[in-house]
Amino acid sequence: MASRVSLGSLAELRPTRAEISLDALQANYSVIRNQVGPRAVMGVVKANAYGHGAVPVARCLQSAGIDHLAVALMEEAVELRSSGINTPILVMGALEPVQMEAVVRCGVTPALFREDQLEAFERCAALGSRRLPFHLKVDTGMGRLGVRWERVTDFLGAVGRCPHLELQGVFSHLACADDPEHPLTLTQLERFQQILEIARSLGHAPRMCHLANSAAVLDRPPSWLSLVRPGLLLYGYRPSERNQPLALHPVMRVVSRVVYLKELRPGDSVGYGATFTVDRPARIATVSAGYDDGVLRSLSNRGHFLVRGHRVPIVGRVSMDLTTLDVTEVPEARVGDDVVFIGAQEGVFQGADQVAVEAGTVTWEILCGIGWRVPRVYLHGGRVVDVRSRFAGETPAL
Ligand SMILES: Cc1ncc(COP(=O)(O)O)c(C=O)c1O
Repeated sequence: MASRVSLGSLAELRPTRAEISLDALQANYSVIRNQVGPRAVMGVVKANAYGHGAVPVARCLQSAGIDHLAVALMEEAVELRSSGINTPILVMGALEPVQMEAVVRCGVTPALFREDQLEAFERCAALGSRRLPFHLKVDTGMGRLGVRWERVTDFLGAVGRCPHLELQGVFSHLACADDPEHPLTLTQLERFQQILEIARSLGHAPRMCHLANSAAVLDRPPSWLSLVRPGLLLYGYRPSERNQPLALHPVMRVVSRVVYLKELRPGDSVGYGATFTVDRPARIATVSAGYDDGVLRSLSNRGHFLVRGHRVPIVGRVSMDLTTLDVTEVPEARVGDDVVFIGAQEGVFQGADQVAVEAGTVTWEILCGIGWRVPRVYLHGGRVVDVRSRFAGETPAL
């Protein structure tokens, strides 16, 4: 877990950092709120808030008035609760029955879809004086977690035998909403509506019915129901160019620095495997960020950085700590220059979505993949308000 760094020691940290704009995060939250009207919003902050830092992100969303937060793991929920986050939290992933005591202690809501989970949660609830809420997770077509839609009646029968539990919510996850034409989304919606009817016919009255991820927030108003559950939109990206645009602001900017510059002659090569050989006199800048920091190795000889407002190519293999750029066309580049992996520089922008295309992956993976050696610097109102680093406090007093 990353700890706080005093603002005074910011200059002593490595030059590679991720700047997180809390203003952009709040603006994205407002845009989503306006888009969905009176529905509640559950912000997805799993995977360390998609690499942005779960605690500062959750704190910012809580102060902006978000209704709910969602995580995948119990550990993620514990991290938030022990940092003072008191917004309702849904743990969406597969909890083990032995974790149900921690669920109760932590005051979070579990997603249940296995009978052993249900029995364990009922046993814990029976020790207390009030009914404990849970959300039923249903598989309407994603095929990963959740009670399969045709088996919901049986599962609800088991719920009926748990007098200490309250079915507060029912939810499912869309598999193909980033493709507005895909027929599975409509099928999933129809199956979900049928499940809600079955639940009501059996006497349940779930208050929170949710299905809409970011893509569905953009394109599928019928899926908004009583609550929407976006992740990626909060961080400033839409899932796909096929989804409707929304006025979002990328929250993360990843900056590194040129730490070495050299002139190479024709025939010289760069990096492991000598996969790039120069065919003309070239200037190569070495940057202090590599694949452990999130510059994926698949960007070798494919990706780009911004240097002095120019998009320059990555040449040679990306290594664990370092990346090499061909800056021959940017003669003004110097050691000490800030370079941008994700974000804007001098009016030029390179988005995590663009990087994802070059790396052959998705925007989510680029954001989550910014490594934990990279300190997170939080900005609000143009000021640094918080700095978090995995290494905070680890310099021994000599
Ligand atoms: C169950 C569930 N709901 C919502 C989300 C948010 O998805 P997105 O980031 O596409 O909005 C995720 C993300 O993977 C998820 O697993």
